[in-house]
Amino acid sequence: MATDSNNGAAPFLPDRLDLGSLRAAAAGCRGCDLYRHATATVFGDGPPDARFMLVGEQPGDQEDRKGAPFVGPAGRVLDRALEEAGIERDDVYLTNAVKHFSFTLRGKRRIHQKPTAAEIDACRPWLTAELAVVRPDVVVVLGATAARSLLGPGFRVTKQRGVPVPLGEALAVATIHPSAVLRAPDREAAYAGFLADLKAAARAADEAA
Ligand code: URA
Ligand code: SF4
Repeated sequence: MATDSNNGAAPFLPDRLDLGSLRAAAAGCRGCDLYRHATATVFGDGPPDARFMLVGEQPGDQEDRKGAPFVGPAGRVLDRALEEAGIERDDVYLTNAVKHFSFTLRGKRRIHQKPTAAEIDACRPWLTAELAVVRPDVVVVLGATAARSLLGPGFRVTKQRGVPVPLGEALAVATIHPSAVLRAPDREAAYAGFLADLKAAARAADEAA
């Protein structure tokens, strides 16, 4: 058995691929060093027959405490935009490119730290397995980290957002991360752009159907 980190997640994958076995196996992943300080693996969540897979960066502070993706402030932005775009929650599988929270301590506060390229690569086998099991029609790529994992380092979200691009048998639609909406100087404009991209994803799914 693989006993230590830095070889990536692949040695931890189960033989049988379904969401239950993947989630159970991911709980014990030591494919990179992030498991050492985070509370627990935050695996994806949603129905196995979802038409949409939404991929974020990594769990944040609240996700790390609660063990589920997008349950903090970014999740509230996402929930609102999904509803306004006409995308039903039970048609959505939510996950992240990296499944442990990466942070630095500032006093007692845990400050979010962007995952490194090596951590994104280490964690990709889980995301690839989720894609293989759920087989979504449309993958919504939320921000640069998810884009790097799924579409490669040459993809530029700012230039290529909102336009469906092939990703295996699915279509991928990239947009900004919902946290970027919260940080934007002009939040309303940022939200409007985010919503427009989610509507493009909804149209892509209708066309795929
Ligand atoms: N940001 C993410 O990228 N993912 C989450 O699950 C929460 C915040
Ligand atoms: Fe494994 Fe991913 Fe966690 Fe690293 S971040 S330990 S690869 S689940």
